[in-house]
Amino acid sequence: MNPTQYPAWKALTAHYKKTRRVQLRKLFAQDPQRGERLTADEAGIFLDYSKNRITDETLHLLQQLANEAGLRAKIDAMFNGEKINITENRSVLHVALRAPRSASIMVDGQNVVPQVHTMLDKMAQLSERVRRGAWTGHTGRRIRNVVNIGIGGSDLGPVMAYEALRYYSQRDLTCRFVSNVDGSDFAEAVLDLDPAETLFIISSKTFTTLETMTNAHTAREWSLAGLGGDPASVAKHFVAVSTNAREVAKFGIDTANMFEFWDWVGGRYSMDSAIGLSTMIAIGPENFRSMLDGFHQMDEHFRSAPFERNLPVLMALLTIWYTDFFDAHTVAILPYEQYLKRFPAYLQQLTMESNGKHVTLDGVRVQCDTSPIYWGEPGTNGQHSFYQLIHQGTRLVPCDFIAFGKPLHPVGRHHDILLANVFAQSEALAFGKTSRQVKADGTSDWLTPHRVFEGNRPSNTIMAERLTPETLGKLIALYEHSVFTQGAIWNIDSFDQWGVELGKVLAQRIVAELESEEAPKLAHDSSTNHLIRRHRMLKEKR
Ligand code: F6P
Repeated sequence: MNPTQYPAWKALTAHYKKTRRVQLRKLFAQDPQRGERLTADEAGIFLDYSKNRITDETLHLLQQLANEAGLRAKIDAMFNGEKINITENRSVLHVALRAPRSASIMVDGQNVVPQVHTMLDKMAQLSERVRRGAWTGHTGRRIRNVVNIGIGGSDLGPVMAYEALRYYSQRDLTCRFVSNVDGSDFAEAVLDLDPAETLFIISSKTFTTLETMTNAHTAREWSLAGLGGDPASVAKHFVAVSTNAREVAKFGIDTANMFEFWDWVGGRYSMDSAIGLSTMIAIGPENFRSMLDGFHQMDEHFRSAPFERNLPVLMALLTIWYTDFFDAHTVAILPYEQYLKRFPAYLQQLTMESNGKHVTLDGVRVQCDTSPIYWGEPGTNGQHSFYQLIHQGTRLVPCDFIAFGKPLHPVGRHHDILLANVFAQSEALAFGKTSRQVKADGTSDWLTPHRVFEGNRPSNTIMAERLTPETLGKLIALYEHSVFTQGAIWNIDSFDQWGVELGKVLAQRIVAELESEEAPKLAHDSSTNHLIRRHRMLKEKR
């Protein structure tokens, strides 16, 4: 079913026409309690969604849309392990990765929770050994550097979590991340590292990804060269995280040093699986488990809370409201927390690889826009860069502000100044500054239009007490389930990623054409042929 066919969609279209010019200034003036009423405080996360261009009627219709789309049944289907990723015939069970030991979640008649905890225990053993200095390298020296090699979901989550939870990390261990097939990424990552003290984690769900395998081979050569070329050293300096034991063994990593996950975990939903091994080594098993507990608390909230106070559902419905009715093209993610600097990049894969789809589950063209483009930077830096457009540009950019009550580094006045900026930004966006107010400041007539802020620019403010592993787990699960809800309403498959395939296949073909000794017979379009020839010419000049 196309989402536009739901009666609530039609009602929302009519409602949008009626209310699209309604000003937040007016909505707040009419209802002095609005700023307290349109909030939700659940599972330790506070969401203020009052500065959105919505009325009670909007919320009512959006929730009706969720009901008509069968959201409740779709949530249950995911949690029950049904194969909701229909194009790959797979269950979607990242929620099992953070289920407590006592839980039971069935896939193909088997409870998968025990294997999740066996793997967590195995990760904890390795992590403890590395952290204590008990895992020694080929020459007997302790490991001081951990380099995760992976890309996409096998990189973005680990990088983001390492940065986000650095405060909790063991500071005499260094973690680095290599993802790009551009050789500079690897070269810079290992420039100042000693192979005798370096452990590589090769992270790849499939263990066939071109970028990761190229970097993994380069890492093995670098490691062997630095350790006298003894192949026995690989066992001490390489571990693998994958679902593909055969390919891991083929690469030369003993499967005893392999940390497994399963095909019911999507790459972009895998940072809390064994893919999080580098995170666990950095912050320790206890902190890692506390992060999983945060995820689980949000899972339970999502599964059981009524839609009107269900945080992921509310956020998803607002995204649909702006994307499909206001024609907003993007969402800005603006964490006022420096440790969350990679959070927007992480969310880009989570949101856009999941919901950047053009057909419904039935394979017909979806009749509305699907995922908006997610982007962002930490505040306050963004304020001195792109916020101009959000305040006075011609486009509507819904914003998610993320802030914490208590700082991790209580330095002087910094935290109050930081938080003052978050609140000032959402206030300025919502209420702006009218020409009358601008003129009242003594601004001349000709300058007034340039200094007017129209306001009526929507935002959510998400707050938690402090950035901890547990809070990070909750925040990630909040967005995961918001993505799920959006996909459920658009009736698309949020868990496949066929859109990345064509480029991969073409690249394989072009690699051979770039590397061949003889000038290859090219049969691409004239532009691609010309670019290939040009590159071959430049290579020869070197
Ligand atoms: O880019 C496509 C993709 O399949 C992502 O979904 C995935 O996270 C990434 O490649 C890496 O895949 P793998 O973990 O199998 O190397």
